[in-house]
Amino acid sequence: MRLTQLRLHQFRSYEELTLMPPQGITVFIGENGAGKTNLLEAIHLCCLGRSHRTSNDRDMVRIGSRSCAVHAKVKRAAVDDEVGVRLFAQQGERKVIYVNGKTVSRIGELMGHMTCVMFSPEDLDLVKGAPQGRRNFLDMLLSQCQAAYFYAIQTYHSILRQRNALLKEIVKGRADSRSLAVWDEQLAKAAEPIVTQRRDAAFAISEVASEHYAFISKRQKEHFFLRYQGSLTESYNPMKDLLKQLEETREDDLRRLTTSAGPHRDDVKLMLAGQDMRAFSSQGQARTAALAMRLAQIDILTKAHRETPLLLLDDVLSELDEGRQARLLMRLDRMQTLLTCTDISGIHPINPSCVLTVKDGQVFD
Ligand SMILES: Nc1ncnc2c1ncn2[C@@H]1O[C@H](COP(=O)(O)OP(=O)(O)OP(=O)(O)O)[C@@H](O)[C@H]1O
Ligand SMILES: [Mg+2]
Repeated sequence: MRLTQLRLHQFRSYEELTLMPPQGITVFIGENGAGKTNLLEAIHLCCLGRSHRTSNDRDMVRIGSRSCAVHAKVKRAAVDDEVGVRLFAQQGERKVIYVNGKTVSRIGELMGHMTCVMFSPEDLDLVKGAPQGRRNFLDMLLSQCQAAYFYAIQTYHSILRQRNALLKEIVKGRADSRSLAVWDEQLAKAAEPIVTQRRDAAFAISEVASEHYAFISKRQKEHFFLRYQGSLTESYNPMKDLLKQLEETREDDLRRLTTSAGPHRDDVKLMLAGQDMRAFSSQGQARTAALAMRLAQIDILTKAHRETPLLLLDDVLSELDEGRQARLLMRLDRMQTLLTCTDISGIHPINPSCVLTVKDGQVFD
């Protein structure tokens, strides 16, 4: 897949910008705060309908503007696609998504037209941070592979919100606790495809990520793997088992006003040499594990779409030693890559097609 044009309008630090990235590696150089990450974020927005670094869409609208828009053209193996997203500064105004000139009503319809893998300094949180980041990693990967998964996760969360709201109503005496049974059943039904697909994805990622880890770190002894962990991990019938768990935890849920069982509580344990990396890994090990997971993401997306995703490398090379940089770049060969750095001398082994300077919301040759 190749990004041929990116247009920004009132997006973050940019008033108007059009970029035509060439094949190969495009490097964006600029000082801290120049607007480099903003460019990669705009591409991420076109791929997934959301930012990689904020859950608040309004943050991306240029301060003082009513709305912003990002528009991208991609050349794919079989077809060419155009996607666009418009966001509004005002609370409550829904984002608008365009695919090939038409407004689509659901964000899921954006999935798969343009795919990317973003490497960013925040990836360390994948290893060291809370379970939500790792669940999100699986959910976004599965959504990019197939829109149906994205709809499944949306449905699950909507039912979960309604069940939690009902718990509050029951405690206030405004609803009957017997009405929970209906929501329990719906929640359990919605959970099933999520649990089974996340479990399969964690297994598939583990297989490839462990190879990447060994290759980048050059240490065959430290075996790296992923283990999906939740109350339904071992279950042959997630729907039936979750229903049972929801019944068992009902009293507790009514006391705490939240749903304590279900895939929204799951985690993916990252294991290195038999230990949970969240608690025991060093910075370097955590960084390598995050890279290995992103490389696995590339493999899985490439397999699903039969073409490579766009690669977005935000300030990651400078943190790696030369050997690791070289081995990482070896794995990224022949993919269109957009890369940011503050200083080109920090990234030795690359051979860019184009080097651009970013300054004050503008991009120069
Ligand atoms: N909504 C917005 N409206 C206007 N400007 C914004 C908005 N959001 C962010 N900015 C500006 O964008 C700049 C940050 O851009 P960005 O994060 O892309 O920097 P960067 O080049 O990646 O820096 P670093 O090297 O530190 O990562 C800041 O100057 C910030 O003030
Ligand atoms: Mg940045």
